[in-house]
Amino acid sequence: LEQFNSENDEFTSYRGRVQAASTIIAVGAGKGGVGKSFVSSSLAIFLAQLGYNTVIMDLDLGAANLHTWLGQGLPPRSIQEFLNDPTIKLEDLCADTMWSKLRFISGASEMILPADVNDYARARLMSSIYKLPSDFIILDLSAGTHLTTLDFFLMAHHNLVLFTPEPSSVENAYRFMKAAFYRKLKRYEYELQIKEQLELFLAGPQTGSVRSPAEFLRRVCGRDPVISHKVTNVMKQLDFRVVLNQVRTAQDATLGPAIQSVAHKHFGLPCNLLGTLDYDNAVWQSLRQKHHLLMANRQSHLYAQLMGMARRISSPQTSFKAAA
Ligand SMILES: Nc1ncnc2c1ncn2[C@@H]1O[C@H](COP(=O)(O)OP(=O)(O)OP(=O)(O)O)[C@@H](O)[C@H]1O
Ligand SMILES: [Mg+2]
Repeated sequence: LEQFNSENDEFTSYRGRVQAASTIIAVGAGKGGVGKSFVSSSLAIFLAQLGYNTVIMDLDLGAANLHTWLGQGLPPRSIQEFLNDPTIKLEDLCADTMWSKLRFISGASEMILPADVNDYARARLMSSIYKLPSDFIILDLSAGTHLTTLDFFLMAHHNLVLFTPEPSSVENAYRFMKAAFYRKLKRYEYELQIKEQLELFLAGPQTGSVRSPAEFLRRVCGRDPVISHKVTNVMKQLDFRVVLNQVRTAQDATLGPAIQSVAHKHFGLPCNLLGTLDYDNAVWQSLRQKHHLLMANRQSHLYAQLMGMARRISSPQTSFKAAA
């Protein structure tokens, strides 16, 4: 218990108060198969090629397959070791890749699922990620809104939400952002004195799977200008950066600006479009040939789009919020 408390205190002190040792980018989505691993691996390779020390971590616990995207076999060590043995350091698990400046931490294991990661293990893992020295750390997450997944997502400085033009994917992207928003508020429920209101609101009749943050702000916080102000400030710390992937038509491409505007106006969520990526058969073809798309298709539109995204995210002008 003593160890648990001391680790947790240490972790709490890392949440936003102590500078993280790197810039953390989380790639999440409400739905599986939208391209999280492809985009995470591509961003990681580009950032490394731009000269940044980069670590990519497979946090898709239970279905980890990022090694295939990096064109390599299963590394001998994985996060499972870290979770099983408190003496193991994350640094020990970093494996080299074929790209200089890019290291990889595998999550591959049949033994762990997000639901199996208890509070202590999660806190220890997050604390270690904060302390891992690098320029960038990229977290490839599981699909869905499991609390462990949301916590990994929220610990990042850049919160990327991927979706595709399919209606179910768009709907799941909103659901994911709303779930992340409420998870974030829950962390501050005592500080903001909204514990009761939040519970009542979330337990009330639901229109979607999770109710609108704008409605929460209007109905619950609107009565108290001080709380309303504080909740709005917490909201500002969140900056969802949506990425529309697998675009095939000009009509598809309009969904990027549309989701940004609906998230703002309808749900009251801070959300900006980071990039739009074409559908390109070369993605799965290159995966089958066990090399990354970026190695052979430097002329493609998709290559330029990914490079643009990596440049935008690494640019010093990019808006920066404290991780929490
Ligand atoms: N821009 C793209 N063009 C063509 N195919 C793509 C593109 N992005 C992803 N894909 C294809 O979509 C499939 C899913 O991609 P990926 O594994 O990256 O998704 P994921 O979100 O990580 O999935 P999971 O939730 O299962 O981990 C792959 O077969 C990949 O080849
Ligand atoms: Mg994946």
